[in-house]
Amino acid sequence: MGLNRFDERVAVITGAGGGLGKAYALLLASRGAKVVVNDLGGSFDGSGSDSTPAQQVVDEIKSAGGEAIASYDSVADYESAQKIIDTALNTYGKVDILINNAGILRDKSLVKMELEDYRMIMSVHLDGTFFCTKAAFPSMKEQKYGRIVSTASAAGLYGNFGQTNYGAAKMGITGFMNCVAQEGGRYNINANTIVPTAGTRLTFTVMPEDVISKVKPEYVAPMVAWLCSESCAESGKIFSAGAGYFARAAMVEGDGVTFGVDKEITIEMLVDKMDQIKSLDNAREYSSAMEQAGTVLSKMSSE
Ligand code: NAI
Repeated sequence: MGLNRFDERVAVITGAGGGLGKAYALLLASRGAKVVVNDLGGSFDGSGSDSTPAQQVVDEIKSAGGEAIASYDSVADYESAQKIIDTALNTYGKVDILINNAGILRDKSLVKMELEDYRMIMSVHLDGTFFCTKAAFPSMKEQKYGRIVSTASAAGLYGNFGQTNYGAAKMGITGFMNCVAQEGGRYNINANTIVPTAGTRLTFTVMPEDVISKVKPEYVAPMVAWLCSESCAESGKIFSAGAGYFARAAMVEGDGVTFGVDKEITIEMLVDKMDQIKSLDNAREYSSAMEQAGTVLSKMSSE
Protein backbone atom coordinates (compact mmCIF):
# COMPACT_ATOMS: atom_id res chain seq x y z
CA MET A 1 0.00 0.00 0.00
CA GLY A 2 1.43 3.33 -1.00
CA LEU A 3 2.09 6.36 1.10
CA ASN A 4 -0.96 8.09 -0.23
CA ARG A 5 -3.51 5.28 0.26
CA PHE A 6 -5.16 4.00 3.43
CA ASP A 7 -7.20 1.11 2.04
CA GLU A 8 -8.11 -1.44 4.70
CA ARG A 9 -6.85 0.93 7.40
CA VAL A 10 -9.13 1.87 10.28
CA ALA A 11 -8.69 5.35 11.74
CA VAL A 12 -10.13 6.83 14.93
CA ILE A 13 -10.09 10.61 14.92
CA THR A 14 -11.22 12.42 18.05
CA GLY A 15 -12.82 15.83 17.78
CA ALA A 16 -13.46 15.20 14.08
CA GLY A 17 -16.83 16.96 13.91
CA GLY A 18 -15.21 20.23 12.83
CA GLY A 19 -11.99 22.17 12.36
CA LEU A 20 -8.77 20.19 11.99
CA GLY A 21 -10.22 16.78 12.89
CA LYS A 22 -12.81 17.07 10.15
CA ALA A 23 -10.10 17.88 7.59
CA TYR A 24 -8.12 14.81 8.73
CA ALA A 25 -11.23 12.61 8.53
CA LEU A 26 -12.17 13.76 5.03
CA LEU A 27 -8.62 13.32 3.72
CA LEU A 28 -8.06 9.85 5.19
CA ALA A 29 -11.52 8.67 4.08
CA SER A 30 -10.93 10.01 0.56
CA ARG A 31 -7.79 7.86 0.45
CA GLY A 32 -9.60 4.68 1.47
CA ALA A 33 -9.52 4.62 5.29
CA LYS A 34 -12.53 3.54 7.34
CA VAL A 35 -12.99 6.35 9.82
CA VAL A 36 -14.51 6.58 13.28
CA VAL A 37 -15.54 10.22 13.41
CA ASN A 38 -15.62 11.01 17.11
CA ASP A 39 -16.96 14.28 18.46
CA LEU A 40 -18.75 15.19 21.65
CA GLY A 41 -20.12 18.25 19.88
CA GLY A 42 -19.91 20.67 22.79
CA SER A 43 -19.01 24.34 22.65
CA PHE A 44 -15.43 25.56 22.36
CA ASP A 45 -15.08 25.80 26.17
CA GLY A 46 -16.21 22.21 26.69
CA SER A 47 -19.81 22.78 27.75
CA GLY A 48 -22.73 20.88 26.26
CA SER A 49 -22.89 18.08 23.72
CA ASP A 50 -24.46 17.53 20.29
CA SER A 51 -24.39 14.55 17.95
CA THR A 52 -24.87 16.70 14.83
CA PRO A 53 -21.22 17.62 13.99
CA ALA A 54 -19.87 14.03 13.98
CA GLN A 55 -22.91 12.76 12.08
CA GLN A 56 -22.56 15.48 9.44
CA VAL A 57 -18.95 14.55 8.77
CA VAL A 58 -19.95 10.88 8.48
CA ASP A 59 -22.69 11.85 6.01
CA GLU A 60 -20.21 13.89 3.99
CA ILE A 61 -17.73 10.99 3.84
CA LYS A 62 -20.45 8.53 2.86
CA SER A 63 -21.91 10.74 0.17
CA ALA A 64 -18.43 10.95 -1.35
CA GLY A 65 -18.31 7.14 -1.43
CA GLY A 66 -16.22 6.63 1.72
CA GLU A 67 -16.75 4.60 4.85
CA ALA A 68 -17.26 6.11 8.31
CA ILE A 69 -19.15 5.75 11.56
CA ALA A 70 -19.95 8.42 14.14
CA SER A 71 -19.02 8.30 17.83
CA TYR A 72 -20.31 10.87 20.28
CA ASP A 73 -18.42 9.78 23.38
CA SER A 74 -16.16 12.10 25.29
CA VAL A 75 -12.41 11.50 25.32
CA ALA A 76 -12.23 13.00 28.80
CA ASP A 77 -13.64 10.03 30.68
CA TYR A 78 -11.85 6.66 30.91
CA GLU A 79 -14.87 4.48 30.12
CA SER A 80 -16.21 6.64 27.33
CA ALA A 81 -12.74 6.88 25.71
CA GLN A 82 -12.68 3.08 25.67
CA LYS A 83 -16.07 3.19 23.91
CA ILE A 84 -14.60 5.34 21.14
CA ILE A 85 -11.96 2.70 20.45
CA ASP A 86 -14.56 -0.08 20.86
CA THR A 87 -16.58 1.57 18.09
CA ALA A 88 -13.66 0.89 15.75
CA LEU A 89 -13.04 -2.63 17.07
CA ASN A 90 -16.72 -3.63 16.97
CA THR A 91 -17.48 -2.05 13.60
CA TYR A 92 -14.30 -2.61 11.62
CA GLY A 93 -12.47 -5.24 13.70
CA LYS A 94 -9.33 -3.23 14.44
CA VAL A 95 -7.75 0.16 14.91
CA ASP A 96 -4.65 1.08 12.89
CA ILE A 97 -4.61 4.84 13.27
CA LEU A 98 -5.46 7.07 16.22
CA ILE A 99 -5.46 10.84 15.91
CA ASN A 100 -5.84 12.50 19.31
CA ASN A 101 -7.23 15.83 18.25
CA ALA A 102 -10.23 16.72 20.46
CA GLY A 103 -9.74 19.98 22.27
CA ILE A 104 -11.25 22.95 24.05
CA LEU A 105 -10.02 26.25 25.44
CA ARG A 106 -10.42 28.00 28.80
CA ASP A 107 -8.01 30.91 28.45
CA LYS A 108 -7.46 33.06 31.53
CA SER A 109 -4.48 34.60 33.25
CA LEU A 110 -3.09 32.46 36.06
CA VAL A 111 -4.45 34.79 38.72
CA LYS A 112 -7.99 34.64 37.32
CA MET A 113 -7.97 30.97 36.43
CA GLU A 114 -10.48 28.86 38.32
CA LEU A 115 -9.51 25.35 39.33
CA GLU A 116 -12.27 24.07 37.06
CA ASP A 117 -10.68 25.81 34.03
CA TYR A 118 -7.44 23.98 34.75
CA ARG A 119 -9.10 20.63 35.39
CA MET A 120 -11.31 20.76 32.29
CA ILE A 121 -8.36 21.51 30.04
CA MET A 122 -6.22 18.78 31.58
CA SER A 123 -9.02 16.25 31.33
CA VAL A 124 -9.98 16.87 27.68
CA HIS A 125 -6.45 17.30 26.32
CA LEU A 126 -4.08 15.29 28.49
CA ASP A 127 -6.40 12.69 30.05
CA GLY A 128 -8.25 12.35 26.74
CA THR A 129 -5.04 11.64 24.85
CA PHE A 130 -3.88 9.19 27.52
CA PHE A 131 -7.25 7.38 27.72
CA CYS A 132 -7.70 6.95 23.96
CA THR A 133 -4.11 5.87 23.45
CA LYS A 134 -4.25 3.41 26.35
CA ALA A 135 -7.47 1.97 24.92
CA ALA A 136 -6.08 1.60 21.40
CA PHE A 137 -2.56 0.42 22.24
CA PRO A 138 -3.24 -3.26 23.17
CA SER A 139 -4.85 -4.10 19.82
CA MET A 140 -2.15 -2.16 17.94
CA LYS A 141 0.45 -4.12 19.87
CA GLU A 142 -1.22 -7.40 19.06
CA GLN A 143 -1.40 -6.68 15.34
CA LYS A 144 2.10 -5.16 15.41
CA TYR A 145 0.96 -2.03 13.65
CA GLY A 146 -0.15 1.39 14.78
CA ARG A 147 0.13 5.05 13.89
CA ILE A 148 -0.69 7.54 16.64
CA VAL A 149 -0.68 11.30 16.14
CA SER A 150 -1.43 13.56 19.08
CA THR A 151 -1.91 17.28 19.13
CA ALA A 152 0.31 19.74 20.94
CA SER A 153 0.49 23.49 20.50
CA ALA A 154 2.96 26.33 20.17
CA ALA A 155 1.42 27.58 23.43
CA GLY A 156 3.04 24.61 25.16
CA LEU A 157 6.29 24.51 23.20
CA TYR A 158 6.95 28.22 23.40
CA GLY A 159 4.50 29.67 25.96
CA ASN A 160 1.49 31.97 25.59
CA PHE A 161 -0.10 34.50 27.91
CA GLY A 162 -3.38 33.28 29.40
CA GLN A 163 -2.83 29.61 28.54
CA THR A 164 -1.07 28.09 31.56
CA ASN A 165 -3.64 25.28 31.71
CA TYR A 166 -3.57 24.60 27.98
CA GLY A 167 0.22 24.94 27.65
CA ALA A 168 0.75 22.48 30.49
CA ALA A 169 -1.64 19.95 28.96
CA LYS A 170 -0.11 20.29 25.50
CA MET A 171 3.46 19.78 26.76
CA GLY A 172 2.15 16.86 28.81
CA ILE A 173 0.88 15.35 25.57
CA THR A 174 4.29 15.86 23.96
CA GLY A 175 6.02 14.07 26.84
CA PHE A 176 3.43 11.31 26.74
CA MET A 177 4.01 10.79 23.01
CA ASN A 178 7.79 10.63 23.53
CA CYS A 179 7.27 7.76 25.96
CA VAL A 180 4.59 5.98 23.87
CA ALA A 181 7.06 6.07 20.97
CA GLN A 182 9.58 4.20 23.14
CA GLU A 183 7.03 1.56 24.14
CA GLY A 184 5.59 1.21 20.63
CA GLY A 185 8.90 0.93 18.77
CA ARG A 186 9.23 -2.82 18.73
CA TYR A 187 5.61 -3.33 17.67
CA ASN A 188 5.73 -0.99 14.67
CA ILE A 189 3.61 1.53 16.57
CA ASN A 190 4.73 5.06 15.76
CA ALA A 191 3.73 7.97 17.97
CA ASN A 192 4.23 11.55 16.84
CA THR A 193 3.02 15.00 17.77
CA ILE A 194 1.54 17.67 15.52
CA VAL A 195 1.68 21.39 16.28
CA PRO A 196 -0.98 22.85 14.00
CA THR A 197 -1.89 26.38 12.97
CA ALA A 198 -5.34 26.76 11.44
CA GLY A 199 -8.34 29.04 11.38
CA THR A 200 -11.00 27.23 13.42
CA ARG A 201 -13.45 28.10 16.17
CA LEU A 202 -10.56 27.73 18.64
CA THR A 203 -8.53 30.45 16.96
CA PHE A 204 -11.29 32.88 16.00
CA THR A 205 -10.58 34.96 19.11
CA VAL A 206 -6.90 35.41 18.29
CA MET A 207 -6.84 35.53 14.48
CA PRO A 208 -8.44 38.23 12.32
CA GLU A 209 -11.42 37.03 10.26
CA ASP A 210 -9.70 37.25 6.87
CA VAL A 211 -6.74 35.23 8.18
CA ILE A 212 -9.06 32.59 9.67
CA SER A 213 -10.64 31.89 6.31
CA LYS A 214 -7.26 31.68 4.56
CA VAL A 215 -5.45 29.45 7.06
CA LYS A 216 -7.43 26.32 6.29
CA PRO A 217 -7.23 23.10 8.34
CA GLU A 218 -6.73 21.38 4.97
CA TYR A 219 -3.17 22.73 4.95
CA VAL A 220 -2.35 20.79 8.13
CA ALA A 221 -4.01 17.55 7.04
CA PRO A 222 -1.35 16.28 4.58
CA MET A 223 1.29 16.26 7.33
CA VAL A 224 -1.00 14.37 9.72
CA ALA A 225 -1.97 11.92 6.97
CA TRP A 226 1.70 11.29 6.19
CA LEU A 227 2.39 10.59 9.87
CA CYS A 228 -0.48 8.07 9.78
CA SER A 229 0.80 6.30 6.70
CA GLU A 230 2.43 2.91 6.54
CA SER A 231 5.53 4.25 4.83
CA CYS A 232 6.19 6.84 7.52
CA ALA A 233 8.90 5.49 9.82
CA GLU A 234 9.12 8.58 12.03
CA SER A 235 8.32 8.20 15.70
CA GLY A 236 8.73 10.40 18.76
CA LYS A 237 8.90 13.49 16.56
CA ILE A 238 7.16 16.86 16.66
CA PHE A 239 6.03 18.47 13.43
CA SER A 240 4.61 21.96 12.87
CA ALA A 241 2.14 22.51 10.08
CA GLY A 242 -0.13 25.34 8.98
CA ALA A 243 -0.63 28.05 6.38
CA GLY A 244 1.50 26.13 3.90
CA TYR A 245 4.40 25.87 6.36
CA PHE A 246 5.84 22.51 7.41
CA ALA A 247 8.71 22.04 9.85
CA ARG A 248 10.07 19.81 12.57
CA ALA A 249 10.46 21.05 16.13
CA ALA A 250 12.68 19.30 18.66
CA MET A 251 13.98 19.23 22.18
CA VAL A 252 17.72 19.79 22.14
CA GLU A 253 20.39 19.93 24.82
CA GLY A 254 23.65 21.84 24.62
CA ASP A 255 27.13 20.46 25.13
CA GLY A 256 27.27 22.14 28.53
CA VAL A 257 30.24 22.00 30.88
CA THR A 258 31.40 19.20 33.14
CA PHE A 259 33.14 19.67 36.44
CA GLY A 260 34.89 16.83 38.18
CA VAL A 261 32.84 15.40 41.05
CA ASP A 262 35.88 14.76 43.21
CA LYS A 263 35.51 18.20 44.76
CA GLU A 264 32.84 20.71 45.75
CA ILE A 265 30.95 22.46 42.93
CA THR A 266 30.21 26.05 43.88
CA ILE A 267 27.70 28.60 42.61
CA GLU A 268 30.64 30.77 41.55
CA MET A 269 32.00 27.98 39.33
CA LEU A 270 28.63 27.81 37.54
CA VAL A 271 28.28 31.55 37.14
CA ASP A 272 31.77 31.69 35.70
CA LYS A 273 30.82 29.17 33.00
CA MET A 274 27.23 30.34 32.44
CA ASP A 275 27.75 31.39 28.81
CA GLN A 276 28.99 27.91 28.01
CA ILE A 277 26.17 26.28 30.01
CA LYS A 278 23.55 28.33 28.14
CA SER A 279 25.11 27.80 24.73
CA LEU A 280 23.28 25.63 22.24
CA ASP A 281 26.32 25.36 19.97
CA ASN A 282 26.71 21.66 19.18
CA ALA A 283 23.32 21.03 20.78
CA ARG A 284 21.96 17.57 20.13
CA GLU A 285 18.71 15.67 20.21
CA TYR A 286 18.47 12.53 22.30
CA SER A 287 16.40 9.60 21.12
CA SER A 288 15.58 8.53 24.69
CA ALA A 289 16.05 9.47 28.34
CA MET A 290 18.43 6.50 28.66
CA GLU A 291 20.64 7.93 25.94
CA GLN A 292 20.72 11.32 27.67
CA ALA A 293 21.49 9.74 31.03
CA GLY A 294 24.27 7.70 29.43
CA THR A 295 25.83 10.87 28.05
CA VAL A 296 25.62 12.65 31.41
CA LEU A 297 27.22 9.72 33.23
CA SER A 298 29.91 9.21 30.60
CA LYS A 299 30.92 12.84 30.98
CA MET A 300 31.35 12.29 34.71
CA SER A 301 33.65 9.32 34.31
CA SER A 302 35.73 11.04 31.63
CA GLU A 303 36.59 14.02 33.83
P1 NAI B 1 -12.25 22.80 16.97
O1 NAI B 1 -12.94 23.37 18.15
O2 NAI B 1 -12.76 23.14 15.62
O3 NAI B 1 -12.15 21.22 17.08
C1 NAI B 1 -12.05 20.53 18.28
C2 NAI B 1 -13.14 19.49 18.32
O4 NAI B 1 -13.00 18.69 19.51
C3 NAI B 1 -14.54 20.09 18.38
O5 NAI B 1 -15.32 19.63 17.29
C4 NAI B 1 -15.09 19.63 19.73
O6 NAI B 1 -16.48 19.37 19.72
C5 NAI B 1 -14.29 18.38 19.97
N1 NAI B 1 -14.24 18.03 21.40
C6 NAI B 1 -14.05 18.88 22.45
N2 NAI B 1 -14.09 18.21 23.61
C7 NAI B 1 -14.27 16.90 23.30
C8 NAI B 1 -14.39 15.71 24.08
N3 NAI B 1 -14.31 15.75 25.42
N4 NAI B 1 -14.56 14.54 23.43
C9 NAI B 1 -14.65 14.48 22.08
N5 NAI B 1 -14.57 15.58 21.30
C10 NAI B 1 -14.39 16.78 21.89
O7 NAI B 1 -10.71 23.28 17.10
P2 NAI B 1 -9.41 22.89 16.26
O8 NAI B 1 -8.62 24.13 16.11
O9 NAI B 1 -9.75 22.09 15.07
O10 NAI B 1 -8.61 22.00 17.33
C11 NAI B 1 -8.15 20.69 17.12
C12 NAI B 1 -6.95 20.44 18.00
O11 NAI B 1 -5.83 21.24 17.56
C13 NAI B 1 -7.15 20.78 19.47
O12 NAI B 1 -6.49 19.81 20.26
C14 NAI B 1 -6.45 22.13 19.60
O13 NAI B 1 -6.03 22.37 20.91
C15 NAI B 1 -5.28 21.94 18.65
N6 NAI B 1 -4.64 23.16 18.19
C16 NAI B 1 -5.26 23.96 17.26
C17 NAI B 1 -4.60 25.08 16.79
C18 NAI B 1 -5.18 25.94 15.74
O14 NAI B 1 -4.46 26.83 15.24
N7 NAI B 1 -6.42 25.74 15.35
C19 NAI B 1 -3.28 25.47 17.30
C20 NAI B 1 -2.71 24.55 18.23
C21 NAI B 1 -3.39 23.44 18.65
